[in-house]
Amino acid sequence: MTKTNLLLGQTLHFSGNPMTTSWEDTVRIDSAGGVLVAAGKIIAVGPASALRSAHPEATVHDYGDALLCPGFVDAHVHYPQTAIIASWGKRLIDWLNSYTFPEEMRLADPHYAARIAGRYLDLTLDHGTTTVCSFATVAPHSVDAIFTAAAQRGQRVVAGKTCMDRNAPEGLRDTAQSAYDDSKTLIERWHGKGRAGYAITPRFTPTSTPDQLAALGALWAEHPDCLMQTHLSEQLDEIAWVRDLVPGARDYLDTYEEHGLIGERALFGHAIHLEPRELDRLAETGAAVVHCPTSNTFIGSGLFDMAKLASRQIPVGLATDTGGGSSFSMLRTMAAAYEIGQLRGTPLHAAQLIWLATAGSARSLHLHDKIGSLTPGLEADITVLDLASTPAIEQRSANANSVWDRLFATIMMGDDRAVQSVWVNGRKRP
Ligand code: GUN
Ligand code: ZN
Repeated sequence: MTKTNLLLGQTLHFSGNPMTTSWEDTVRIDSAGGVLVAAGKIIAVGPASALRSAHPEATVHDYGDALLCPGFVDAHVHYPQTAIIASWGKRLIDWLNSYTFPEEMRLADPHYAARIAGRYLDLTLDHGTTTVCSFATVAPHSVDAIFTAAAQRGQRVVAGKTCMDRNAPEGLRDTAQSAYDDSKTLIERWHGKGRAGYAITPRFTPTSTPDQLAALGALWAEHPDCLMQTHLSEQLDEIAWVRDLVPGARDYLDTYEEHGLIGERALFGHAIHLEPRELDRLAETGAAVVHCPTSNTFIGSGLFDMAKLASRQIPVGLATDTGGGSSFSMLRTMAAAYEIGQLRGTPLHAAQLIWLATAGSARSLHLHDKIGSLTPGLEADITVLDLASTPAIEQRSANANSVWDRLFATIMMGDDRAVQSVWVNGRKRP
């Protein structure tokens, strides 16, 4: 017989998008709620007392006044950069050349790649993140490493081989043809297998020739159910470089668009310094952008304009951008998104922040029918947040007027110590 588990606590519920409709109408916390889980799925949500009496067979896990949330979804990461996170003093291009490329080269060793993939996923689970969308390295085995480690942990993960055929060191370069061939083989090996999903992954225009972008555009047209992830308009130097490399392009986005690399399942990381035409095309095509706030401050990239993108109904995911970002924690990432909102004069409410880190990111990955909310029928990825995890947070929490104040204190001051328990695909993480 299938084992049934009943998780009790405060429960988070979404009925709409708090970035486009008021958060009061779309996000709710039930103070004595429950989530019934069996065979990897959420079976029911509702009042704790009703679920308890309707399901006497269920094993009860009573988390008191902790908050049961969907597992966090980190929509843009580079798992191979785990060991160089928080490297000092460089801006994007120098940072890539000084820290990132040498480390990605080390993953040419399949054993090292497997070790980093496992280490990375364990760190993210420690921080309550159950799904990531990751760049691998140029080496196909680095994709095998992350999907294998994810399958061992039961995790839903999206990933793809990073494609680069110029402006990268020998050893990290492929070709237009090998990028196409290797990505195709990896799609056939992994896409839709268990909880794995494939993202076709040109790193960015400076490191992909037009031939390579065209080859990957053709591959995406053959596999339209895959995601396509890349970078867009992160730093001004980078944008100037793209202008030099592709002088005929209308703007940075056009360098992708020209090769078919735009559409509903496209994911553009950073997207800070956008031209009006780029905003129009993102809105028209349904492409998503990913906000990486700790990275954007850490590498000195700029202030993402969430309000403008939300007003154009452009889907936005939230991400750490490990290791350009300075933390594995989606709580720290929400805090940075709040601070960038303040600097832009548009602070986000705790309800919006937690929606972005869960349902919003899931929607950007086109996974909202599988993960990202506590909804019957969805996969049971659940993060239990202790809203008084340190003395500093506890004393603020004790002085709070509402559960939203308590959650906001944990968002601003919390880290992995706030993650009391994590359930992945219906199983409690030991
Ligand atoms: N642009 C191209 N590659 C990268 C990367 O690895 N990290 C960040 N933050 N930006 C990039
Ligand atoms: Zn990135």
